Amino acid sequence: MSKAPPGPAEHNVHAELIAGLRAPSPYISPKFLYDSLGSKLFEAICELPEYYPTRTEAEIFRHHGEQIAQACGTGATLVDLGAANCAKAAKLFPLLRPTQYVAVDISSEFVQGAVAQLRHRFKGVDMQAVGQDFSAGFALPDTVGAHRRLFFYPGSSIGNFRPDEAVDFLTRLRAQCDADGGLLIGIDLIKDPAVLADAYDDALGVTAAFNLNILRHVSRLIGANFDVSGWRHRSFYNAQRQRVEMHLEARENVSVRWQGGMRYFVRGQSIHTENSHKYTLSMITNMLERTGWRLEHVWTDPKEWFALAYARPAQHFAAGAR
Ligand code: TRP
Repeated sequence: MSKAPPGPAEHNVHAELIAGLRAPSPYISPKFLYDSLGSKLFEAICELPEYYPTRTEAEIFRHHGEQIAQACGTGATLVDLGAANCAKAAKLFPLLRPTQYVAVDISSEFVQGAVAQLRHRFKGVDMQAVGQDFSAGFALPDTVGAHRRLFFYPGSSIGNFRPDEAVDFLTRLRAQCDADGGLLIGIDLIKDPAVLADAYDDALGVTAAFNLNILRHVSRLIGANFDVSGWRHRSFYNAQRQRVEMHLEARENVSVRWQGGMRYFVRGQSIHTENSHKYTLSMITNMLERTGWRLEHVWTDPKEWFALAYARPAQHFAAGAR
């Protein structure tokens, strides 16, 4: 490997990671879960019997496809947030028949590749890949049609924001949408904590591997010496905050070194890696209303484990935005 001096982007990543490791309650941002092995492990998680969200959302699309298409209408600019391999959106193409498809993902090369493949399958659709971390801010290129954007945000990724961040995010989305736009969003619902516990700690240990793999990724990024075998995956449902929390817990006292620093962790101390907030239908309605959206329709599965919501810009907000 070449040893070029780090550029500004790498400096930010270093600074961000080290600040998290040094914090009184240490954390690593969940975006570092998705290196190339991490992305594959997450694909494996989606096939686990315990991990219901992906399967349940797909079931909702299968059962209510026509109604969903009727609600959303055809011919929109479909903006896929966190598109990854674009598989979820591709399944919707025959239903939604978008004029333009815009795949946004933090993993720029990955999404470019996926869009290149998709172009062959849907020749009439104008397609663009946008490599962007849209969690912090939001700027779509001018080449993205401004009229009738349909934002697609599946998989309950919204749950990985804190509720106040989710509100900011939905507000920003609303600002990027004209009066004829819409939002199709998947949201995981509050349910039996035992079901939630299993979904985030499966019997095969795939979830544990996925969470622990972040330590290897971080070690590569900042030259740290994390020893994966010294840590264990720990997840639990925090009922008060209505979220599943993911942590990595030190099995023994350990000092971790990285380029230019170190930290001592005592046995049982943990590094927080992700939150997955769960909602009720009324919380969803409320959150959309507070952010300039009007809920048009919600589809759920028979057990009410997962919700797919379609929202339109609320009228009074739409007038102000012009
Ligand atoms: N965003 C996914 C979720 O909230 C990610 C996820 C699934 C995850 N299992 C995990 C993150 C285990 C960390 C550890 O459902």
